[in-house]
Amino acid sequence: MTTKPPRKFFEPLAIGAPAPYRDLPVRLERMIHFFPPHVEKMRAKLPEMVGQVDVLLGNLEDAIPADQKEAARKGFIAAAQATDFGSTGLWTRVNCLNSPWFLDDVTELVAAVGDKLDVVMLPKVEGPWDIHFLDQLLAQLEARHNVKKPILIHAILETALGVENVSAIAQASPRMHGMSLGPADLAASRGMKTTRVGGGHPFYGVLEDARAEGGPRTLFQQDLWHYTVARMVDACQSAGIKAFYGPYGDFSDAAGCEAQFRNAFLLGCAGAWSLHPSQINIAKRVFSPDAGEVRFALKILEAMPDGTGAVMIDGKMQDDATWKQAKVIVDLARAVAARDPAAKEAYGL
Ligand code: GLV
Ligand code: MG
Repeated sequence: MTTKPPRKFFEPLAIGAPAPYRDLPVRLERMIHFFPPHVEKMRAKLPEMVGQVDVLLGNLEDAIPADQKEAARKGFIAAAQATDFGSTGLWTRVNCLNSPWFLDDVTELVAAVGDKLDVVMLPKVEGPWDIHFLDQLLAQLEARHNVKKPILIHAILETALGVENVSAIAQASPRMHGMSLGPADLAASRGMKTTRVGGGHPFYGVLEDARAEGGPRTLFQQDLWHYTVARMVDACQSAGIKAFYGPYGDFSDAAGCEAQFRNAFLLGCAGAWSLHPSQINIAKRVFSPDAGEVRFALKILEAMPDGTGAVMIDGKMQDDATWKQAKVIVDLARAVAARDPAAKEAYGL
């Protein structure tokens, strides 16, 4: 037998580690807001950000200078100990598996704040073997430090090999929380010719047909990330985990960021990263369902209480499948409404 029998998935990987979750905890995660934990000024802002963002992530990997890696790790621990995060998730992005920092990142964090840490984001994941290694290590550390709930793993999809193995990564462990697209590393890994972090590219498009009478032809810009996001969503949703768009690097282009986030939302992503405070509200707006859509979805659910049959609403055909579409929107709206009284009112919930 080369595959793990189903029941084995739900046994802890270390004696004394908490039992793996059978279902993911339900949480609203519209934006994963990154902070650099070695910067004292940023740490000081965390208490006021609790409740304003869905997830706070202390970044230990790329963008943290090599000589600040230990300060970032210590700063994260200090911030985690000092802050009550309430319903805001606490995540970290550790350094990658072959780096000199990974082992101390994971061992020190779980020892000091294992009970507060919800999710470990693992960069540069290439296959299920990377997840298995972290899964086992976390189980050992949870057991040693008497951690009460499993710490989840979130993979960054940012290597060509990772994309090749995306389904196997998504299915690697019940500890998998989800996956984010990492467009910068992925572009480099694939040999894509762009210096941008996410977003479109003006040269990637389809040229309108030439006309007999001649004249200028329009290049319709296409989404460089469409294929990968769609593939990631299918891999994640079929494995019962969540897909996310990652970073949008041009902080001066709010409209470009919003368009990229919205494509991800429409394709099935649950959220995106915010790397700058201005991106928090963009993500909040985009990854909360539109009030008009919610009200229409509520009409569908009301018109088909048992979710079967066919009805017409405002001239549009509804059946069992559209009932399921409506439920996706209403379930998300309820989660948003539980955190935001203004949204509750706008949704009519
Ligand atoms: C994120 O880590 C990226 O590489 O885009
Ligand atoms: Mg990266």
